[in-house]
Amino acid sequence: MSRTLAILKPDCTGRKLIGQVLARIESAGFKILATKMVRMTGETAGQFYAVHRERPFYGELVEFMSSGTAVPVVLEKENAVSAFRNLIGATDPAEADAGTIRRDFAESKQNNIVHGSDSDENAAIEISFFFSEKEIVENGRV
Ligand code: CDP
Ligand code: MG
Repeated sequence: MSRTLAILKPDCTGRKLIGQVLARIESAGFKILATKMVRMTGETAGQFYAVHRERPFYGELVEFMSSGTAVPVVLEKENAVSAFRNLIGATDPAEADAGTIRRDFAESKQNNIVHGSDSDENAAIEISFFFSEKEIVENGRV
């Protein structure tokens, strides 16, 4: 079993698609280990996407990610990173395979509903960006 980080982006929450998207994720066999609702600032969104700092879309991406509520979700499955990338589809919904979450819900290359980590190493970094180990269900007791 391995983990990945999903983020339901502000377009997903704003269009009231949280339930539908989480249902697709659970139906695909992922276990939800942790989730919360956050409002990212320009600073935290900028840090999260720092790898894209030099890209032309960076400024608008940071603005979009800090424009409303986001829902980070820690997911567990075998080969979670690649399984989740397959479930969400290509960055641009016009290029995403039929049956993928982005193909079915996303409105544009930027407003594409959901983030998914791109490697095990980045998944670990991104999970710890939003969650402490105590917030992950196996490890937390309240
Ligand atoms: O999210 P994914 O890993 O598929 O794509 P990325 O290349 O890591 O880009 C991160 C995010 O930036 C995308 O999910 C889009 O929201 C946005 N983006 C954009 O607005 N315009 C592009 N040409 C590429 C990405
Ligand atoms: Mg990416």
